[in-house]
Formats: sequence, C-alpha cells, structure tokens
Amino acid sequence: MTKVLTKHFDEPKLHELETYRRLGGYKALEKALGLDRAKILEEVKTSNLRGLGGAGFPTGMKWSTVPPEDKVPGPRYVVVNADESEPGCYKDRVLIDRAPHQLIEGLLIASYVIGAKDSFIFIRGEYQAQYEVLEKALAEAEKAGLMGKNILGKGFDCRIELMRGAGAYISGLDTALLETMEGKKAWPRQPPPFPTVAGLMAKPTVVNNVETLSMLPHIVEHGGKWFADLGVPKSGGTLLLSISGHVERPGVYEFPMGVKLRDALAAAGGVRGGRRLKGVIPGGTSMPPLMEKDLDISLDFDSVRAAGTFLGAGGMIVLDETADAVAVAHNIERFLAHESCGQCTPCREGGFWTEEILERLMDGEGVPADLENLTRVGTNITGKVICALGDTVGMVINGYMSRYPEDFKKRIPSNGQG
Ligand SMILES: Cc1cc2nc3c(=O)[nH]c(=O)nc-3n(C[C@H](O)[C@H](O)[C@H](O)COP(=O)(O)O)c2cc1C
Repeated sequence: MTKVLTKHFDEPKLHELETYRRLGGYKALEKALGLDRAKILEEVKTSNLRGLGGAGFPTGMKWSTVPPEDKVPGPRYVVVNADESEPGCYKDRVLIDRAPHQLIEGLLIASYVIGAKDSFIFIRGEYQAQYEVLEKALAEAEKAGLMGKNILGKGFDCRIELMRGAGAYISGLDTALLETMEGKKAWPRQPPPFPTVAGLMAKPTVVNNVETLSMLPHIVEHGGKWFADLGVPKSGGTLLLSISGHVERPGVYEFPMGVKLRDALAAAGGVRGGRRLKGVIPGGTSMPPLMEKDLDISLDFDSVRAAGTFLGAGGMIVLDETADAVAVAHNIERFLAHESCGQCTPCREGGFWTEEILERLMDGEGVPADLENLTRVGTNITGKVICALGDTVGMVINGYMSRYPEDFKKRIPSNGQG
C-alpha cells in the first residue's frame, strides 16, 4: 500500500531539518517556487484532495475562491488549523510530532499559491509538546532560508507565526478560530462571506487542516493525477485514521482513500478479545456510528455520507458488544453541551436538556416521555444553528437512538410514568 505522509515515519529523527532534507524534503517547495501559481492550483484540483479537518471540502475549489490580488489588493493569509480537539482524533498531533517540516513545506507551498506573505499555525493549547516541536522546526527553517525573506533565493517572502488556543473545542471551527486569533470570543461567524473572501482581519484567508497541507509537497512532487489515482473518484490520495476504542492495536494508520472499513479494522488487529462489533464511529465523536452491516463500505467522504454519517477527521472509535449506546451518547452530549459557545439558543438550551435527560436515563430514573423528548429536542436543533457543533447535538442523539433503540428502552424502568 502506498504511504504518502507516513512513508518515512521509521526514521527516528525525521522531525529534524537535516533528516527531512536528506530524504528529499523541501525539494517540492523549490520546484513549486519555480512554477506558475495557477499551474500548482490546477494540480491540486486534479489531485481531488479533500479537506481532512472534518468537512471534506475540495481543497483546490476552496483555494480558487480567494479573490485575485488585482481585484482585492492587500494581504491574504493561510492559517493551519491544528486545533484538533475532536474526541477520537489524534492524527494531527502525530503528524506534527513526527514530521513538522512536511507541514511547514505544505504551508509554504499553499502560501505561495494564495500569495500569502504572513501565514499562521493555530495549535490547540493542550499541545504543549507539539508547540515546542513546531517552534524548533520553524527556527530551523528560518535559519536555513526556507522561510522569511527571499525563500530559497526565489524572491518569495513568507513569515509563519505560531499561535496557541486556550482549550475551546469550538475554536477548531474555521470562523471561530479566526475570531479567536483576532482576540475575540470564539463565536462562529454566519457565512457568507466565507473566510476565503473575508477571513482573518476581514482579509482573504484560507484555513486548512494539518493533514491537508501536509499532502501538498507530495502533490507538487508527483503530480495531481498520481495523487488522485491513489484514492477513489472525487476523494484522492490517502487518509490517516486515528483508531481507538475496543481494538487490539489502537494507533494512527495511513490507508488509501476508499479503504474498506473491514480492512481498516483488521489492520488495527480487529475488535479486542474477538468480541462482536457494536459500531464504529468513523470520524470523531460528532457523528452517528456505522454498524456491522457497513463493514464493506468504502471509507471516503461520499460513501460514508451515503451510509448516513461522516468520514470527518478520521477519528475512528470502535465499540464492541459490551458498549452501552446510552452511556456513549451521554458522554458525547455532555462534551458538546460543555463546549457549546452559547451563541445559538437551540444548541445552548437543547444541548443542556439533551445532557440532562440522558443523565436521568443513566441514573435509572427515565420516564417514557424522555425518548420522545430526546428525538424532538434533537430534531429542533439540527439545521437551525449557525455552526456544525449544534447540528451535531441533534445528529448524535437521533443517530444513537435510531441505531440502538433497545439500549434506550432498557433505561426506562417498567413503572416509569410519562
Ligand atoms: C466544532 C468544530 C470543530 C472543528 N475542529 C477542527 C479542528 O480541530 N481541526 C480542523 O482542521 N478542522 C476542524 N473543524 C473543521 C473546520 O471548520 C474547517 O472545515 C477545516 O479546518 C478546514 O480545513 P480542511 O479543508 O483542510 O479540512 C471543526 C469544525 C467544527 C464544526
């Protein structure tokens, strides 16, 4: 199986500039700086690279919506989203730890295409060790003339600034992230305008995930078609899955886009102790699980969507037959209620009540009307809020209730009064 991002992960010092360059690192940047920006954009479009931070938006299409400098003069920015706060996701952490220069190289290529002379890496506050890895890697890159003024003597200037979050999950949502960077409360913006038109400080801004940007040196090196051919139609390349939960060998695995769920599970050693599978959360806790019947689906954005859930950011959590769907849903809803920014009433209030009702079910004090109320509250949130966090509150509760009705019914004592 072709590895793209993790190909050199056996090299113990890959995080150091010397090793990264010895293995061909920054050659793609050099090549890119000699190419026409429009040509690179074409290759990115051809590659079918999709955003790997959760939404799966085509990267080339996103970049094309940045207005050209002659129409909107002035600064424009690229921001790396390294907030990675979705429970179950830890692949960006591994990418930063093991290959920080791969990310920096990708960011510089993106900055060149967009015309950004100032770019940023926004990293979650809890990632102290990774912050230090990046700090060191950026200093190495600057010293080697790979960032700052006249990069590699090719006349391109770009500075990269590292910024830290302060522990809010919502700051990972692109528009809330931009508010956070501006020093404001992390309230999502209601687009339009989208960040590529009016983002950081109201200037055109591309926000891309760590994994997405780390793919770019490889697309520049081998071409868009090579990358597209690794995956399936409309989702090119490979993807990283951070696999956790009830499996024998949890960890970060790289697969071609479109790998079968069954094969991804097998690579992680299968369900622990040979137990039966109850479900697999494909992309991080913000989505309903896949079921045993879905084992042969292809893990790519469109196929997972067609199966009623999302590929998200590849934070795969495996649940075996001992998992209780009410306890899992309660855990996720408690997180979402805590992390709701409070801007939209349906999410603020609905998330709170969803957690309260689930708490009652967990305490064995459920009443028959609870199930109906959970469905009603969930349905009244999704689609009626500014951002996807609120949508998630409804999607998760309704997703678990429809997939595991028996677990929910079991929680209503037989003498419960409606
Ligand atoms: C509540 C919430 C949290 C998010 N957290 C992250 C995150 O930590 N990292 C990330 O890359 N994208 C996150 N996203 C998705 C971003 O809004 C955005 O789509 C992404 O950074 C774009 O990059 P991409 O196109 O490369 O995926 C989050 C979305 C939501 C709704």
